[in-house]
Amino acid sequence: MKRISIALCLVVAACGGEDDSEPVAWKDMSFEQRYEFMEEVVTPQMAETFAAFDPKFEGMSCPTCHGAGATDGSYAMPSAQIPPLPGTPEAFLEYAMDPEIGRWSTWMYETVVPQMADLLQVARFDPTTETGEFSCGNCHTLQAVEP
Ligand code: HEC
Ligand code: HEC
Repeated sequence: MKRISIALCLVVAACGGEDDSEPVAWKDMSFEQRYEFMEEVVTPQMAETFAAFDPKFEGMSCPTCHGAGATDGSYAMPSAQIPPLPGTPEAFLEYAMDPEIGRWSTWMYETVVPQMADLLQVARFDPTTETGEFSCGNCHTLQAVEP
């Protein structure tokens, strides 16, 4: 297989040697590498997960998570175009009393957060041990806490 690859290299002259390089962890990736990883790995897998929850996400892409950041090219997160979440545990519990919000939140907590953390190879925030970092706030903005 390798010899065929080398032969192909000579023919198409388009080999950057990337096939042989070590995979780079998300935290060490350049912006360009992150872009590519989002496009080739994260989006196809998350689109499948989202569409299984709600068919409206069939064929979802960058703007579903990045909102305006997908248009201006910054891809900054969290995104102001995803519904913001209440910023205190008390306010969140009240918000999640709504059955539909509760259903979404449970799915986000049990499925979206762990899968996304795994894809990015970062530890998900675990509320029982208060360890890890990846959580709701990596995608959703949190409402400011009233004094
Ligand atoms: C399921 C949600 C989701 C989708 C879909 C998604 N992204 Fe992301 N993306 C994220 C999250 C979350 C982060 C931030 C990760 C972190 O906290 O480090 C991110 C980060 C990035 C970054 C790095 C930004 C930086 O400042 O380093 C780039 C670039 C990016 N995404 C591009 C894309 C592109 C291009 C697409 C579509 C092909 C896409 N993303 C689709 C959730 C998503
Ligand atoms: C990888 C990014 C990502 C993470 C992490 C994430 N969410 Fe979401 N969430 C989204 C996106 C994208 C939507 C909006 C989809 C749409 O366009 O309808 C959403 C929608 C929701 C909604 C529905 C809001 C509404 O008004 O329709 C709730 C509730 C929610 N998320 C709660 C949570 C909670 C709670 C967590 C953490 C346990 C969490 N989310 C983590 C991306 C994320």
